[in-house]
Amino acid sequence: MNHPLPEVCDGILLKQEAIESRVRELGESLVRDHTGHDLRLITVLRGGLFFLSDLCRATDMPVSLDFMAVSAYGPAASGSVRITKDLDDSIEGASVVVVEDIIDTGLTLHYVLEVLRRRGPASLEVCTLMDKGVRRIVDLPITYQGFRVPDRFLVGYGLDLDGMYRNLPYVATLRDEVMS
Ligand code: PRP
Repeated sequence: MNHPLPEVCDGILLKQEAIESRVRELGESLVRDHTGHDLRLITVLRGGLFFLSDLCRATDMPVSLDFMAVSAYGPAASGSVRITKDLDDSIEGASVVVVEDIIDTGLTLHYVLEVLRRRGPASLEVCTLMDKGVRRIVDLPITYQGFRVPDRFLVGYGLDLDGMYRNLPYVATLRDEVMS
């Protein structure tokens, strides 16, 4: 599949092949750690959808999927988040892995984990493809991590600029001048 680098970008950070290979490894880790358990992969729409779709196919065991959507409100760093779409299924007693495309400040996931923990899962873990650790505001337990990424604006493989570029099969860096 040929997706030329968009003009707003200045380079590819994660090539398609590197993502595919890392996703395969993460899927194998999930199988190793969760065989025999009621594994639920939950993602926060919308960006995590692309990673979830590939990750669940790399996870060679029975697994079910569920989805949440959240929206931030109030001042950016306040961490105020509300659920705009909740899970369809109960997670009581399940081995839950929350799947994210990227963790930045950690505020979204911090809130999501608090909500899910109160619902009595047997275990609650995080699997993120990308970790922009340098921007972290709240500490989070991350069990599975694909790549550490630098503090650049990224698009592709679920990450967007005004809703566009999520469908790129690679992750690219945005030109600085586009944001300024
Ligand atoms: C992204 C990503 C995480 C969140 C991480 O979603 O998918 O959910 O940001 O940021 P944080 O660690 O600073 O909270 P975004 O809000 O861009 O929505 P989207 O998935 O619909 O693009």
